Amino acid sequence: MSNNKTSKTISSEILQHEESSNEALSNIALGYVDSVDSDYAKRLAKKWQFNYIGDAASASKQPELEFILQMNQHVLELCKLDEPKLGAIKVDFVEGAVAHRRKFGGGRGQDIAKAVGLKHGFTPHVLDATAGLGRDAFVLASLGCQLTLMERMPVVAALLDDGIERAKLNNEVGDIAQNMQLIHASSIESMNLANQPDVVYLDPMFPHREKSAAVKKEMRIFQSLVGEDLDADGLLEPALALAKYRVVVKRPSYAPPLANKKPSMSINMKKNRFDVYVNLAIPKPTT
Ligand SMILES: C[S@@+](CC[C@H](N)C(=O)[O-])C[C@H]1O[C@@H](n2cnc3c(N)ncnc32)[C@H](O)[C@@H]1O
Repeated sequence: MSNNKTSKTISSEILQHEESSNEALSNIALGYVDSVDSDYAKRLAKKWQFNYIGDAASASKQPELEFILQMNQHVLELCKLDEPKLGAIKVDFVEGAVAHRRKFGGGRGQDIAKAVGLKHGFTPHVLDATAGLGRDAFVLASLGCQLTLMERMPVVAALLDDGIERAKLNNEVGDIAQNMQLIHASSIESMNLANQPDVVYLDPMFPHREKSAAVKKEMRIFQSLVGEDLDADGLLEPALALAKYRVVVKRPSYAPPLANKKPSMSINMKKNRFDVYVNLAIPKPTT
């Protein structure tokens, strides 16, 4: 998937370091649900180099397609064509679970905040080098951190970019989204495109133990799209070389540490844990 082509900036401020490989995208196309979105959908297909199919309903007549990215009332959504009951996934920082967590999630006392070092009264610049749908990054951004997000899969990066751009237009979360910059690139090769982060945060995909029925519908679409990040061990070394203060790795409780490297400390939760690798002690707050 990754290739080292020249870095370029495109209109919506996303840094695009990879050109999408067309073979990898042959099972996915982009279209619109309502024709009012047709021009926008066409522009987006061009920007991300997806096959444009016009009316998203026509996807069902194309057996080679597994997924459809559809522009639905100015929101980009992803559907799995052979499992329509799973519904659609989109990135929404304004409403739903992410918004609920922003309002009631425990602020700087929550585990992810402790893991990146926020409890010390320190607000780091965090590189989320496996950004996915940006939920963890948004939690940290809403606690005041500056976030650089890196995502290598064009479909995921397109969904995330759409969510960030919509959030920027919202009164409540616009300021938070302004602090989130997305780079579409593989962080194994291109991590240093992010300017000297204080903390590198990693949450690569790990094989799930739960039976598929127990996994939330949204997660099932995401898992079938992304698969497992089999090269995830390769993230730790560049992360440790880049992070000023620490690297934080989110792991399922049953998983071994990334690259089998023992962390400096771990924060254990019910299903997951944060492994923290300390490069340098976080500065004490000045009083
Ligand atoms: C489990 S998801 C991350 C979920 C994210 N923490 C969230 O809160 O939404 C892992 C993501 O990392 C991405 N990824 C894995 N390895 C990567 C790499 N080397 N460079 C960039 N993205 C990567 C995958 O494509 C996937 O979207």
